[in-house]
Amino acid sequence: RTVYVNGEYLPENEATISIFDRGFLMADGVYEVTSVLDGKLIDFDGHAVRLERSMSELDMRSPITKEDLLEVHRELVRVNEINEGLIYLQITRGSDGDRDFVFPDPETTAPTIVLFTQNKPGLADSPAAKKGAKIISIEDIRWGRRDIKTVQLLYPSMGKMMAKKAGCDDAWLVEDGFVTEGTSNNAYIVKGNKIITRQLSNDILHGITRAAVLRFAREAQMEVEERSFTIDEAKEADEAFTTSASGFVMPVVEIDGVALGEGVPGTIALRLREIYLDEMR
Ligand code: PDD
Repeated sequence: RTVYVNGEYLPENEATISIFDRGFLMADGVYEVTSVLDGKLIDFDGHAVRLERSMSELDMRSPITKEDLLEVHRELVRVNEINEGLIYLQITRGSDGDRDFVFPDPETTAPTIVLFTQNKPGLADSPAAKKGAKIISIEDIRWGRRDIKTVQLLYPSMGKMMAKKAGCDDAWLVEDGFVTEGTSNNAYIVKGNKIITRQLSNDILHGITRAAVLRFAREAQMEVEERSFTIDEAKEADEAFTTSASGFVMPVVEIDGVALGEGVPGTIALRLREIYLDEMR
């Protein structure tokens, strides 16, 4: 695999960064995951805009223009021959060669930028989407700026491990009884014909897939309500699903051992998945 590090394309085993990099020492960095279908980038613009915002919220300066970033994405897709897969992009604050809580001077410390591809044949035609996901609910104990896509992913990672241990696929995070989002996706329930998902705020990541799916749902005259819902309400829903760049629209069939509807992927979730894939590719 060819990867991109600070302006260079290199074989993955020749790419290096400093042990003092604040991404490594302090999770001081941001990231994006963009999917590739039929060799084409899905919603690059949305991801680039959110990346800019994540950086500006953390007082980071972008080491690359949007145009150059697009070029790097395209080049990696080309050289690694990605037909279906993901592109991971990470920008960290870099380092001035020491460990200090205080940010280094941005005039003399360049951020570190890394991109690599993940080849995932069958991403769109996923068996997991046909089966639907079983999820558990866990308390949301993350920090209060979940709108910033930082690389602090220990708790989401622990959440997936808890789900796995329980024989499930993923976890939904719950704060004061209300579902915030999934470990790495936005969360939705369906009641009757109404699609319900939490309103945007600092409590959740503003999903790029979420924005597209809600737009397509409204265009298809589906009813959408952006509001908080409790985990108890979710367990009584007719359907549920999640959205993300890596899972597109993923039906949820079970929450904490409670089957939703018939316990199979819901018709609205499956329809939205189809619309999303049709529109985006
Ligand atoms: N995760 N919420 C969280 C906490 C996420 O980590 C993600 C994305 C989303 C969905 O955002 P989008 O639709 O822009 O992918 C929501 C990525 C895929 C990841 O960490 O791998």
